Order: sequence, then structure tokens, then C-alpha cells
Amino acid sequence: KKNGYPHYMLKEIHEQPEALRNTILPRLRDGIPDFSEDEIPDELFSFCDKIAIVACGTAMYAGMVGKALVEPIIKIPVSVNVASEFRYENPLVDDRTLVIVISQSGETIDTLAALRLSKERGAKILSVVNVKGSTIARESDYVFYTHAGPEIAVASTKAYMVQLASLYLIGCRMSMVRGKFSQKDAGEFVSRLLDTIPAVQKILENKAKLKTAASILAKAKDAFFVGRGLDYAFSLEGSLKLKEISYIHAEAYAAGELKHGTIALIEEDTPVIAVATQDHIYAKTISNIKEVKARGAFVILITKQHAEITDDICDMHFSVPVPHDRFTVFPVAVILQLLAYYTSDMKGLNVDKPRNLAKSVTVE
Ligand code: M6R
Repeated sequence: KKNGYPHYMLKEIHEQPEALRNTILPRLRDGIPDFSEDEIPDELFSFCDKIAIVACGTAMYAGMVGKALVEPIIKIPVSVNVASEFRYENPLVDDRTLVIVISQSGETIDTLAALRLSKERGAKILSVVNVKGSTIARESDYVFYTHAGPEIAVASTKAYMVQLASLYLIGCRMSMVRGKFSQKDAGEFVSRLLDTIPAVQKILENKAKLKTAASILAKAKDAFFVGRGLDYAFSLEGSLKLKEISYIHAEAYAAGELKHGTIALIEEDTPVIAVATQDHIYAKTISNIKEVKARGAFVILITKQHAEITDDICDMHFSVPVPHDRFTVFPVAVILQLLAYYTSDMKGLNVDKPRNLAKSVTVE
């Protein structure tokens, strides 16, 4: 069942290029997102004056990337909400709100409760779900299925990847419907999205250095993930992945926040995984990284290709072969997943079934 892989997680990480193709290609007509087969009407993207994304864990972190991508284009407020908070918060949701619910299993109890509350308040519900016919899918007004195939490992990998791809497609269609993208813009956006698939493949084919980085992480008690903007959203997911399967205390911070407390925790050899793939804030992130490096941190830096890297910035460097800032998440996610995977495996832990966790959280 594991197809020769030692763990489901590693198998599922390797299934990502295929999962991306399966999720993206059926939604394209003449190279442009078209959801007529999903029975998702364009009005769903034009009626709303705000969007609320609701989810838990990794699905919520996919939502954060979605917000950072879409909000600057469509220029209406997009909030990202932890479902277990949202359901008890009297959230600002009404009949002009599109609620996007994201869930791999479609059974997460808090996410379901948030969906029901939003429906009661008159919002329209679009869910991004992997499991066909699940409760969340059945109770939503519209469903955009991610085609990851079954995900067995507790740590979500390929489901996250296709949740992202789905949000990119939804964002692209919405931008067209709302007059922010021309056909040409949409075509270009989709071709950049498709270009991420070989980039993901390339990371999967070059794992040796990632194992070396993991052997260093495996000795650590704490690790910090930092980035700004989209890179911060990627860092949150990287940190969750590491903590849930390697039991290393990991935190993600917006790089500019380091000075406001966290930098006090940096000691000799504390691992800091820094993500700096966004051109407009690259220099800012690098200056934060130099500060932690000067205090002894062991810096693992992820940038786009062709970044100029000097020894005073990092101890190890990985680059992603994607030139466009908005699309770097796909290969970056694979790097962060593999780092977590190898760290857990090197510690001899139960990678697929980490302690205290269940694949699907159906009780509060
Ligand atoms: O099935 P869901 O997508 O609703 O699950 C949400 C979270 O429980 C899930 O993503 C969890 O955070 C994963 N174990 C993370 O790897």
C-alpha cells in the first residue's frame, strides 16, 4: 500500500505533482479556470462584499496563503479564521459574505460548526474538500473538490498542496468575474501555476541536502521559522509540520516581530528556518536573518534561485526554481515537509501516527 515508501507521509509527499495535475487540469478550459463542471456559478464570486475563510490546522494555513494572494487583487476584505474560535465569537458574517470552508476530511467538528453558524446568518458557503460526500461537502452550498486521493498520514501534505492550488484557481476565477483580471491575465496566472508542478518535482529529486539539514534539526529542542508576507504564511505551516511529527518545539514568526521578544530565545546553534522568496520584502527579511545569525543561530535559508547569498547570512541554503513571487509556496512547502519528515524519521518516531493526534478531529 505504501508503494515501496517506508511511510505514507513520504509516499504522499511524492504524490504531489500528480495531485496538483488532477486538481488543476479538469478545471481549465482554453487555459482558463472554468467551474461549470463543479456547478459553481460566477455569481458566487460577485455577490459578496467580504470573504471569510474558516478552517483548522494546515487547512487554515492554506487559507492564509489564499488571503495573501487574493485580497490585494480583488480588494475586498478577506479574513482567515480558526474554526474553533470563529464558532464562539459572534463573527461578522451576513448575507453579503462568501464563507470559504477548507477541510481535507470534510468531518472536522469545529469547521462544520462554523459552516452551520455561517449558513444560519445567511452567508453562502463554498467548501474546498478532499473527501467526496463528507458532511462538510454535503452541507455546503457549493463544493470545490481537491483531488489529492486518500491521505493516510496524520500530517497533511498533499491535501495542503491541492488546497493551495484550489484557492489559486478560485482566486483567479474570482478576479476575472470581478473585473480585476483580463483573459490574458488569467491565462498568464494559470501558466505560472502549472509551472510550479515541475518545480515541485525538482525538489523531490534533490533530497540529499535536505537530509543533512534534518540531521541538524533532529538534535534541536526548539526551532524557529521566520518570513514576511506570504513567506510568513508558509512558515506557519512549516512549523506545524515539524512540531507535530518530530516533537520539536517550533514557532513561526513574522520576521519583523523577532525584535519584539522572540530574539531573546536565540542561542548558539538554535535552528532558524528563514523563508525569503518575496522580492519586495527580501532585503527586510535578510536584515532580520543577519540579526539572528549574529546571535549564533544556525540559519537554514530558503530563497528563489539566483539570490546572492553570503556566509554572514546563513549556514545552509535552499532555492526554489519558481521566478514569480506569488507562486513560490508550492516548492517551498515541499522543502518544509521533507525537513519535517526526515527529522521525525531520524529521531525514530512514528512518522505517520504521531502521539496524541488523530487524522480527523470529529470531537471538540
Ligand atoms: O480534515 P481537515 O482538513 O479539516 O483537518 C484540519 C486539521 O486537523 C489538519 O490539517 C491538521 O492540522 C493536520 N494534522 C496537520 O498536518
